Amino acid sequence: MSENETPSTAPPDAAIPREMPEPSGSPAQSPRPGPAANPAPARPLHGGRTFTPRRGRVTDAQRRALERLWTTWGLEVDGSRLDLRALFDTLPPDAPIVLEIGFGMGEATARMAADDPATGILAVDVHTPGHGHLLRLAERNGSTNLRIANGDALVLLREMLEPDSLDGLRLYFPDPWPKKRHHKRRIVQPEFLDLAAGPLVSGALFELATDWEPYAEHMLEVLDAHPDYVNTAPDGGYAPGQGSRAPTRFEGQGLRKGHRVHDLRFRRR
Ligand SMILES: C[S@@+](CC[C@H](N)C(=O)[O-])C[C@H]1O[C@@H](n2cnc3c(N)ncnc32)[C@H](O)[C@@H]1O
Repeated sequence: MSENETPSTAPPDAAIPREMPEPSGSPAQSPRPGPAANPAPARPLHGGRTFTPRRGRVTDAQRRALERLWTTWGLEVDGSRLDLRALFDTLPPDAPIVLEIGFGMGEATARMAADDPATGILAVDVHTPGHGHLLRLAERNGSTNLRIANGDALVLLREMLEPDSLDGLRLYFPDPWPKKRHHKRRIVQPEFLDLAAGPLVSGALFELATDWEPYAEHMLEVLDAHPDYVNTAPDGGYAPGQGSRAPTRFEGQGLRKGHRVHDLRFRRR
């Protein structure tokens, strides 16, 4: 897999086919220092992980970035409590802090961090090449408002974040798990929404996007049914425009296949 390929966490028979070949050849060597090869095991929330654990092949450039930058900008999802204010200590104490779940290769995350330096972005994924790639982009942009977490976002939400500590949540193009028998692995479920409601402050914006129509309908349905979230769309449907989102790699692949993208924006009550 080259540096420019997109991660696919879902097994081939479970994910929408994309231009995302599985890693080939020998397993990646573990960069030291760098993110742990196997993120902390998560107690499945709703019938399985939302991703397939795998490390992916790390390019030399990504490995160098991980070795150089991970100890400064990276953190492990290890279940220990996280003081977000201390983590973003270069920002003013009242700066908004948002969590992005599943940044993939990180191009959109790097863009959003550069475009909005006053907001702290904690970006979490399990994909090591993506960690390295995002570190490189952030360094190139001189962004200091970005921290990168390695591991399962569900553990991060459930065990590490304090109540009322997040001003926003971003979930762009989560794995769609299109087959019916895999639907329980989709991250957007009532239990996930329960978990996210803890760290989100009242009024926080929860932004989602997907190019998989049935998943978009599912998102709308479970969010509408959840008492802690309210739709910001005037007609109670999909949100107009992209909100805070920069165009993502997965989105581009979907658009090239003729998929329609749906954005959703809900507020934490
Ligand atoms: C389909 S990709 C989309 C990546 C990116 N947002 C984009 O639009 O290009 C989904 C990403 O979510 C990550 N992911 C899935 N479940 C996760 C979880 N529970 N915790 C952290 N990352 C997760 C995967 O590793 C993968 O990188």
